[in-house]
Formats: sequence, structure tokens, C-alpha cells
Amino acid sequence: MLEVRHVHAGYGRFAVLRDISFDVAQGKFLGIVGRNGVGKTTLLKTIAGALKPTQGSVRLTGQELVGLDASQSARRGISLVLDRKGIFASLSVKENLLLAQRLGASRKQQWTLDAVLDMFPRLAERLGAPGGGLSGGEQQMLAIARALLTQPSLLLLDEPTEGLAPLIVANLVSLMQKLGQSGLTAIVVDQRLETVLDTCRDVLVMSRGEIAARCTCEELRHDTDLMREHLGI
Ligand SMILES: Nc1ncnc2c1ncn2[C@@H]1O[C@H](COP(=O)(O)OP(=O)(O)O)[C@@H](O)[C@H]1O
Ligand SMILES: [Mg+2]
Repeated sequence: MLEVRHVHAGYGRFAVLRDISFDVAQGKFLGIVGRNGVGKTTLLKTIAGALKPTQGSVRLTGQELVGLDASQSARRGISLVLDRKGIFASLSVKENLLLAQRLGASRKQQWTLDAVLDMFPRLAERLGAPGGGLSGGEQQMLAIARALLTQPSLLLLDEPTEGLAPLIVANLVSLMQKLGQSGLTAIVVDQRLETVLDTCRDVLVMSRGEIAARCTCEELRHDTDLMREHLGI
């Protein structure tokens, strides 16, 4: 479904990604791990059209995305959840959700508001609260819920559990597992290795702008050399 081929990207003259190639199959969650600064966020931004690669190709169901901007990529079905951005602090949870739904109105409807509220019952209890009044965990849930209502073909999650208390992380991980069973296709980047191991079957290990390994999460769990060298664990 997603085909990334020989992608190079960076910021001005500062090259970050070098010759990145990988696929994500329809209905699968792919994890990306690697130390701080190796280029994980840069890769997600490049896939989402927020950063233009200097070389290479990114195809979604056969259609080239390189050359499109972020809003055009969003219309093709790529949704990036980054730093809980995109939440309107002064609007209510419900208004935030309805706005996202409007963005996805022209796409095939896979997620209704009811289905999303079923997935995130906590948000159903907080519909009238202002987006800015939510806890960190609730904001992350709202950010993901909004992304689902844009009816994505591919969801990109950057550090979804960052800064959340352990109990909230556990709750979010089980929600992500449910999303994984729903047929959604996603890429999950997280500093917290367990989040990736618990939600994805396959994982890319990145090192300094390159892919050092692709394996199953089960293989990574048992590969102490790979863990030590690229994750410092
Ligand atoms: N907007 C930016 N401008 C210049 N350099 C950046 C910018 N964002 C990230 N970088 C640099 O690009 C490299 C990769 O960063 P990033 O993709 O955020 O890594 P990760 O998400 O794996 O921690 C780092 O060296 C970082 O300092
Ligand atoms: Mg990052």
C-alpha cells in the first residue's frame, strides 16, 4: 500500500535521510525505532508531504505523492499525528471532531463519529470540554480520533505515548491494538520500545538516517546486539 523508494531528505543542506526504502502492507502496523535524532520524525514528515525529499519516491496505492504538499497528501489519505498538533484549544472536543470529519467528507467513509467515540469512550464523556482543558492522554486520544475522522488510508503516529503516565500509556496501547485489528494501516514511531513491540508486527530500526534493519518485533525482542547497538538497551 505504501512504497517508499530511495528517499533522501533533509533540512536545507543538512542531509538527514539517506536512501530509505521500505513498504507497508495494507492493514498492517509498522513500527519505527531508533535513537533520538536518527530521522524518524523527518521520515514521517517526508511521507506526509510536510517535507519534500531531495530524491526518491513515495507511493500510496501506486500513486506518487512526491511533489504534493501536506494538504494534498492529506486528501490522498495520509494523516500525520505529530506532537498532538491540530487540536483547537478553545473549541470543544465535539467541535474538534466535527471539524476533522468535515476534512474527510470527500473521502470514503470508514470512521463515523459514533465508531470513533466507541473506540475512545473517554472522549465521549468529555465532548463539551474545551480541547485545551484535556489531560495529555486525552489530548493524544483526541488527536488520533481527529485523524481517524479524516478517513485516512495511512495513519502516521509520532511518539504517541510521549510524556504520558504509565497507566495512560497502557490504556493508549490497548486502544492502538484495537485499531490494529480494525484493518487500519499505520506507522508507529515511539521512543518507548514497548509501545512499538506491543502494537506492531514488523519494525524498522533506524540509525543515522538509514534503515539498519527490518525484522519482526519478536525478532527484535530477542536480538540483544541489535537492541544494544541501535537502541542503547
Ligand atoms: N526543522 C529542522 N531543521 C533543521 N534540522 C532539523 C529539523 N528537525 C530536525 N532536524 C535535525 O534532523 C535530525 C533528525 O531529527 P528527527 O527526524 O527529529 O529525529 P528523531 O525523530 O529520530 O528523533 C536531527 O539531527 C535534528 O537535529
Ligand atoms: Mg522524533
